[in-house]
Amino acid sequence: MVLSMGRLSFMDVAMNSPTLLLSLGIVALLIWRLWRFTVRPLCIWLAGKRLYIVTSPEDNTLLNRNTTTVSFETMVVGMYRDIGISSHGVEVFFNKASVPLGKDTAAKRPLDAILEFHKRQLTPGRNEFDVLMSSKVLPCIENTMDFTRAKGGEPFVLDTTPEATTVSLLRMCEEIFIVGVPDAFLGMDWFKSNPEMWKAWLDWERVNWKVIFDLPAALTRDMVAAREQIVDSYVQYLRVPSAERSEASYFIKSLDTVMQRVDASETDTARVLLLQTWAITGNLYKVAFWAVSFMAHDQSLLESIRTEILPVVRGEKIDESYLYEKCPELKSLIVEVMRVTIASGLVRDVIAPTVVGGKTLMPGSRVLVPYRQLHLDRDAWGENAHTMDPRRFVRDAKLENSKSYLPFGSGHTLCPGRFFAKRAASYFIALLVSKYDLRLKDEGARFPRMDLATPAPGVPLPRNGDDVILVLKERPKPCK
Ligand code: HEM
Repeated sequence: MVLSMGRLSFMDVAMNSPTLLLSLGIVALLIWRLWRFTVRPLCIWLAGKRLYIVTSPEDNTLLNRNTTTVSFETMVVGMYRDIGISSHGVEVFFNKASVPLGKDTAAKRPLDAILEFHKRQLTPGRNEFDVLMSSKVLPCIENTMDFTRAKGGEPFVLDTTPEATTVSLLRMCEEIFIVGVPDAFLGMDWFKSNPEMWKAWLDWERVNWKVIFDLPAALTRDMVAAREQIVDSYVQYLRVPSAERSEASYFIKSLDTVMQRVDASETDTARVLLLQTWAITGNLYKVAFWAVSFMAHDQSLLESIRTEILPVVRGEKIDESYLYEKCPELKSLIVEVMRVTIASGLVRDVIAPTVVGGKTLMPGSRVLVPYRQLHLDRDAWGENAHTMDPRRFVRDAKLENSKSYLPFGSGHTLCPGRFFAKRAASYFIALLVSKYDLRLKDEGARFPRMDLATPAPGVPLPRNGDDVILVLKERPKPCK
């Protein structure tokens, strides 16, 4: 039969010709591969602003190198303004190299000095780090986990019998990492002894994503209320004579000194404290929550991690400094949890034309590297990229250095708290599984679902009502 093209549609012809259909498929595939690998990054318009989306690890590396044309600082300035810091404060923090940092180091701007203090405080091997860990953070985790001390009821304990304690896992992680850890930095049990502070902070954790978006005032009232409550509490903290705040960490004392030196107002200092505490609390409690959730739902994983940890338990103490490095299953769990949960990404302002992936990014636009996309990319992680595989990094420890694995960011803004975060989370998990037998209160409870509908600066929370309720039973004490 001779086909008359005039009377048949293109689809009719294609459907009747397997060869043509195959050719079309190949062309479509080629176009997709071309788009994927050459027409990148993707550009969209969002709220009147051009947004480039970068999805390749190589382009991310390029962005990190282009620090003069792609700016983190403009974003930080915006954040300082959005949090309510005065114009004078912003001017002083960003523009004047006024803080001396020792005889061999040039004076720095307050902002850079604060980052330097963070790095000194958070680098393992430095005295500041070791003191903070051994005399503040570890005891705080130990105390919170010691239900036998009967300190008047921890807020995460739902029920106690002589045999077992029932707890809310989310609330327990909050108590340790949102109340206890900031107190380890601040001293004075500031959060713990001020319910209005810790309650405001728990609210803040659920609404602080609104700081990042330019939302109308009517939609940000809850965020502003939590923020101002925290600022008020920090103003009170700053009014306590420094002699009574002598338990504060190196970081907090140094920050306080810088603020006084540049004559920052009380409220500007309180707002800077809020931003810095946000970095400390932001993700750790959620990483701990998801890691324990996976163990609670997988008894064989729980048992193999416990078996690995018990040899480093000495008496009631755990050899913390070796824990993270000597327990590959525990380490792999934490690293994999961050791979599958991190929902945010790198965001930067383009301030001068920048060529990335064969495309020129235009000044005035914004660029986003969605880490979730990199973390779930099948090309980098294989067919089970979308599946939680707790032993992935036991099988191949080098994957942690992959360019497609960026839970702590990359380049010159790589998170200075990464060692602290991994070690504190490891210690919490080690203490939990070595001290207690744990099981789900409801054996049939479904695994908590991530709240991916609410933008999360980092790791998402579980959806409302998807907490994990655990029954903890004290294990026999190990021999000394
Ligand atoms: C699991 C927990 C954590 C995760 C996933 C995380 C993630 C990140 C990421 C992705 C960045 C880079 C942001 C960017 O380049 O845009 C960052 C920066 C930062 N993080 Fe963390 N972080 C964690 C814990 C901590 C902790 C515990 C602290 C402090 C005790 C901390 C302090 C900081 C600071 C000060 C910065 C800013 C660095 C700079 O401006 O150069 N982080 N974090």
